[in-house]
Formats: sequence, structure tokens, C-alpha cells
Amino acid sequence: MNDFKYIEQELWCEQTPVRAVAQKVGTPFYLYSHQTLKNHFHVFDQAFAEVPHIVCFAAKSNSNIAILRIFVAAGGGVDIVSGGELYRALQAGVEPRKVVYSGVGKRIDEIEYALNAGILMFNVESFQELAEIHACAQRLGKRAGIALRVNPDVDPQTHPYISTGLKENKFGVNIKKSIEAYRAAQKMPWLDIKGVSCHIGSQVTKISPFVDALDRLKKLIRLLRKEGIDIRYLDLGGGLGITYREEEPPHPVEYAKAIIGAAKGMDCTLVLEPGRVIVGNAGILVTKVLYTKTNEGKNFVIVDAGMNDLIRPSLYNSYHQIQPVIKKKGKTQQADIVGPICESGDYLAKERQLPEFERGELVAVMSAGAYGFTMSSNYNSRPRVSEVLVKGRRSYVIRRREGYADIVRGEKIPKFLKT
Ligand code: LLP
Repeated sequence: MNDFKYIEQELWCEQTPVRAVAQKVGTPFYLYSHQTLKNHFHVFDQAFAEVPHIVCFAAKSNSNIAILRIFVAAGGGVDIVSGGELYRALQAGVEPRKVVYSGVGKRIDEIEYALNAGILMFNVESFQELAEIHACAQRLGKRAGIALRVNPDVDPQTHPYISTGLKENKFGVNIKKSIEAYRAAQKMPWLDIKGVSCHIGSQVTKISPFVDALDRLKKLIRLLRKEGIDIRYLDLGGGLGITYREEEPPHPVEYAKAIIGAAKGMDCTLVLEPGRVIVGNAGILVTKVLYTKTNEGKNFVIVDAGMNDLIRPSLYNSYHQIQPVIKKKGKTQQADIVGPICESGDYLAKERQLPEFERGELVAVMSAGAYGFTMSSNYNSRPRVSEVLVKGRRSYVIRRREGYADIVRGEKIPKFLKT
């Protein structure tokens, strides 16, 4: 369910015509529905209502501080993977005790920042990181809450770039070796062992990989408890998929039911780190047709958004629906929707049956709320686009479009080059 719909041939976001926002802010821009974001978070959170839990929204999927604020205001926490994401989460007013910190390469300054902020726990991904966190905690005189991120070796059956829980991936500690890591942690007085965590992958469209992972975690928790290691938090990561095209992922309620059932009797607070399922279908990218042309019988629609604005199609060959902002009658044709970047891989959609777009028409790239803006860059020295939040009849610019000065901000010409 989302709040993007056609009313008399025109695409609306809630009670606001998309065209009106384009007139106000120019193109391209990301557009999010406040109602959809709030709803998605609420449905997910409520699905776990019967058990102690924290929904830590995965900031990497969409880290705009206004968007984080929506979830924080609804009682959510944040899953972070860097000092920058912690900064954003704090700007959004998160309670530090609802922040979990994952990532294979945490730097010392980032660890210290998180310790000083007082986060709930670090999801530790290696033996060396464990020792480093302990050393930082000792230095600062602050005990560090930790969970080991274990690699449960389950196949999430998703794209290889975003599958993270197989034993050959760089993530986490092998589940068999993790006992040793917990034993080591137990000997470190500045560590407070709080939990076990895992994350098996993203855009997962079946329930069974999550339940398999949970079963493995349960076995581990039992073993740890036998050794007197108290586990209070069970962090299952994120990963629930969404419909981009024809996928039929489980509804969050169904997902929660399976997890609550499988976690019964464990007496742990559940931590969930959803990203895509909350924001993916709550946002679109709006772009304008610059030119159309035909090369060797192939039709190209050249738009003003490129792979620097939305890299998912180029990077993962992922599918995003393309919709006209204003529907018109007439013929359709097969075409590629491409951007202005100097790379053949710069496309938003390939070989699609689409209306015969004309110059100046507005095009919506659907399901772009997750890993859209957060993965955008200034490649080809293109200013990053603006982000707009719609609430009912009103729209709010939650990130202004960059200008040329933003692009060179921080750069300097050394004196010897100035003469
Ligand atoms: N927790 C951890 C530790 C993660 O690594 C991730 C995503 C999440 C939670 C959130 O997963 P989600 O619920 O959004 O599936 N850029 C890729 C996705 C990369 C996902 C990385 N980790 C894409 O555009 O599809």
C-alpha cells in the first residue's frame, strides 16, 4: 500500500499532484509520502507488538534527517553503519539506547563517538574489532554493549551483491567460531555482552531464510547461556523485500508472526533493522524528458536523472517501474530510459514498452525510496538532487538541490598552482 496514485490520468502523492511539486522545485527530485512512511513503520512495529522489541530503521536505505525523524517520533531506533549515520540519527533526536551499530570496518574515532553517545550495542564483526572496542571502552571508562554479528550461512536467495549471510561473505563471524569470540569477550571487563545479531541479505522475498537463520541463532544462544553468557537481545537484521515488479514478498505481519513463533521461549528483546520495506515504496524519483532519439532502430528516452542519482539499475540491473506523471492517449513503443552520464551503463530502465514520451514530459521512477538518494553521487560533477516530503496537500523541501558551489566545497587550489 502506498499513497502514489492516478487521479484522472495524473499522478498524485497523497493530496498533491506530482506535477505541482516539479513546478515548484524543478527536476530531478526524490519525492516521499509522509503518510506511507508513517504507515509502513507503524504496520511493521505493530506486527511485533506482542513481544518486547525495538525497530531500528536501517539508515543506509534513506538517511535524510526529516525521514529519520518520522520513525524516531514513532518510537523507533536506528541501525547505523558509520559515524556519519550516528550523527544523522542524533540530529533526528534518536534515543541513543535505541541505536545499534553494524559494519565490518568501524574506525576508532567512530567507536569512540558511539561510546560517548551511549548506544545500545555494537554488532561486532571480527575478533580484532572486539579487542579494539574493548580498548576504546577502557580508555573512555565507558562499558560497551556488544553483540556478535554471526554469519548463519543461510542462502537468502537474492542478488549476490546484497546477500550477506553466506559463509563466503565478508560479514560477521562464522557461527561456529562465534562461541570462541563470546568467550574472549567474556574475559574483557569493559564489554557488556548483550546479544546475538545477524543480517542475511536484502530484498529477501521468502520467510524461510529468516526462520532458518533464527533457528541457528537460537541454538547458539542456548549454548552461550549454558556457559553463563547472558543474551538479552536477539537482532535479526533487516532484509524483508518489496514489490518492484511482480515479487510477492511476505507481508510484515506474516513475517513478524513467523519470527515471533520461532523466537518463542528465548526470552530476548527482538531487534529488527528494516530499511527497504519501510521506505522503498514510499518514494519516487521524478525526472524530465530532455530528448528522444533512435539509434540503429533502438529508441532512447534521455532524461535529466542519471546513474549518479539512482544507481540501482546500473549496479544491480534492478527493475524500477517507469510511469508517466501525466498519462496521455496514444501509441506505446519499446525504449530505454537513459541518463546524461558518459557511460553506456547509465540507464534507469531497459527495453520497456512505454508511452511515446516527448520532450519536457515528466517521468516517475517508482519504488525509489530505498537506496536511491543515499547511493547518489556527484559523478560528472552533477549537483545532487533535492528531496521533497509530501504531507497531505503540502510539500516540504527536506533537502535543497545542490548548486555548483556545493560541488567544489572543500576543494582548494594549492598556492604553487595559482601563479
Ligand atoms: N541491517 C544490516 C546490517 C544491513 O547490512 C542492511 C542492509 C540492513 C539492515 C537493511 O536491509 P533492508 O531491510 O533494507 O533490506 N544497496 C542495495 C541494498 C544493500 C543492503 C545492505 N544492507 C540495494 O540498493 O538493493
